[in-house]
Amino acid sequence: MVRAAAAAGKHRKSAKFVFICVGLLGAALIADLLWATSSSSSQPSFTYKSLPLKLNSFPLPPLSSNYSAAKKDVRFLSKTFADLPGPQLEWEKMAPAPVPRLDGAAIQIKDQLFVFAGYGTIDLVHSHVDIYNFTSNTWGGRFDMPKEMAHSHLGMVTDGRYIYIVTGQYGPQCRGPTAHTFVLDTKTKKWEDMPPLPVPRYAPATQLWRGRLHVMGGSKEDRYTPGVDHWSIAVKDGKVLEKQWRTEMPIPRGGPHRACVVVNDRLYTIGGQEGDFMAKPNSPIFKCSRRNEVVYGDVYMLDDEMKWKVLPSMPKPDSHIEFAWVVVNNSIILAGGTTEKHPVTKKMVLVGEIFQFQLDTLKWSVVGKLPYRVKTTLAGFWDGWFYFTSGQRDRGPDDPTPKKVIGEMWRTKLSL
Ligand SMILES: *[C@@H]1O[C@H](CO)[C@@H](O)[C@H](O)[C@H]1NC(C)=O
Ligand SMILES: *[C@@H]1O[C@H](CO)[C@@H](O)[C@H](O)[C@H]1NC(C)=O
Ligand SMILES: *[C@@H]1O[C@H](CO)[C@@H](O)[C@H](O)[C@H]1NC(C)=O
Repeated sequence: MVRAAAAAGKHRKSAKFVFICVGLLGAALIADLLWATSSSSSQPSFTYKSLPLKLNSFPLPPLSSNYSAAKKDVRFLSKTFADLPGPQLEWEKMAPAPVPRLDGAAIQIKDQLFVFAGYGTIDLVHSHVDIYNFTSNTWGGRFDMPKEMAHSHLGMVTDGRYIYIVTGQYGPQCRGPTAHTFVLDTKTKKWEDMPPLPVPRYAPATQLWRGRLHVMGGSKEDRYTPGVDHWSIAVKDGKVLEKQWRTEMPIPRGGPHRACVVVNDRLYTIGGQEGDFMAKPNSPIFKCSRRNEVVYGDVYMLDDEMKWKVLPSMPKPDSHIEFAWVVVNNSIILAGGTTEKHPVTKKMVLVGEIFQFQLDTLKWSVVGKLPYRVKTTLAGFWDGWFYFTSGQRDRGPDDPTPKKVIGEMWRTKLSL
């Protein structure tokens, strides 16, 4: 979401000076936890800086090995406390996308990754599709989206030829969502309208399941209030078979930015959050302002019984992963995202792990680290390679807060 706003130099309102008593731990931890400095005369914002102390002789607690334990003990919280250990992978940098994009969408069909929309900057949104070919490892075949189609936070899914596109945010900054829906024939590159959603949604979970297009959760029109509504409509080969959307059982927890995956006739929703940036009241440009967010790692599943079941949660809360997953060998593989904000600095914290959810054992694990932490990245899998492109990356290995909107494409050989 819209941390690009902050990247543009805006200081967070919630930045607060918090004095941390490090007590008996002394100088070693002071080096790790302090120092707050003001970076602006008008509105102070605080960042940590390391003091030039040697830490080698102190047995520091393993900050990143246990998320819940680390979080409980706020005294020990480094900025990178949320990182989980995982194998380093060998990454290969590929050709970058024609444009950087944040909060875009992506759909893989065979060896092609269709990459849609997204913010270029907080004030500029894309209204076209770029295509990456996993066989030739090149970008090409750009084409336009319909003028009425949302530019970010879309719901999107494919049946292997047709791409169904529902709702999403229309316009830059923190404008609200539109109810418009479309279907794209990827063979002919032709777009058609579908019946609009009953009400607009922002970043809803979207999947095809048992011949029906399902749309659930997301935020309501204000971009913030979690929606729990769930609708479906029958579709086949790019055609809508019903006049209107059917109301289905509400999702147990609402909110935007989760992954939604169908494997072996079961529908899973993974992670997400409640709350998001909202437009400032009366702002003519719908200027984004940050609000409280609760990120979660909940996993819910629908099967034959048509009742939501709760499955084991992710290793840590994770959001901004709607197109950051692939299915490989009966596992869901998920890359990056955002986790809960830092409890002391309140800054947004990006995720740098690749998670595996094994569907036979329902076990989660960390199968590797990304080259950097990144949110709303767009993932694909081809010929043994895991790819990701786009999103917003961190400020560096020691600072997991969001900064640059990227177009980079990377790949690594996955071995599960
Ligand atoms: C993490 O720490 C919590 C609280 O100390 C503990 O209950 C839990 O078992 C730990 N988990 C792991 C995986 O070590
Ligand atoms: C992708 O590239 C390969 C190799 O150049 C080519 O044979 C293939 O047709 C391309 N795929 C599509 C869908 O254009
Ligand atoms: C998936 O399973 C096949 C067959 O066991 C194996 O050859 C392949 O390496 C696996 N793929 C990954 C990414 O681990």
